[in-house]
Amino acid sequence: MEHYFSEKPTSTPKKHRFKTRIRNHDIIIDSSSGIFSVKEIDFGTRLLIENAKINGKEVLDLGCGYGIIGIAIKKMNPDINITMIDINERAISATKKNCESNNVEATILKSDIFSNPQLRNKNFDTIITNPPFSAGKKVCFKFIEESSKHLNKGGLFELVAPHNKGGESLKKKMIEIFGNAGELVKKAGFRVYISLKK
Ligand SMILES: C[S@@+](CC[C@H](N)C(=O)[O-])C[C@H]1O[C@@H](n2cnc3c(N)ncnc32)[C@H](O)[C@@H]1O
Repeated sequence: MEHYFSEKPTSTPKKHRFKTRIRNHDIIIDSSSGIFSVKEIDFGTRLLIENAKINGKEVLDLGCGYGIIGIAIKKMNPDINITMIDINERAISATKKNCESNNVEATILKSDIFSNPQLRNKNFDTIITNPPFSAGKKVCFKFIEESSKHLNKGGLFELVAPHNKGGESLKKKMIEIFGNAGELVKKAGFRVYISLKK
């Protein structure tokens, strides 16, 4: 069965284009079936972008989908270097197209979490993610565990989730891995959690 986190979606893509405004930036997104949140930006994603704390120059959008987090964060923080990665080939093609049409320079890589060789020795100052709940808790836990290995000291890990539908366990995992986890914002059942790499 095909999911938004399939590596190679095979269904004929049903294309969709939408425009969104985030913190005074107009962004046009070309999305399609087989990618997360086809019709419009996800509520949790927007909450994460609008409340994200950016620390340092190297920023990673982990599980970038069609690229909305990385594109918006780069527009809001033009001096950063943004890297965007996803396991889904269709999502990676959409991210490349969307970066081009929104004039965003980024490093875009297909990668199963950090498996891409270009990421082996690469560390970040901030890692931001709306994790793939539908892929299961094990994958979401791996997002947290692997991110801690690719963060510089003093770096930030930020994740959005519905608190009572799995988010609480992700926050606990962040405490286990980083030794700390706070909350940047909570709204409509969603929370943005943040951990500091010590
Ligand atoms: C909830 S979606 C968020 C997409 C996008 N960041 C957004 O907020 O609209 C999670 C993303 O994680 C990606 N993903 C799932 N498993 C992955 C893995 N093992 N490695 C990299 N990305 C993965 C999915 O393909 C999907 O695009």
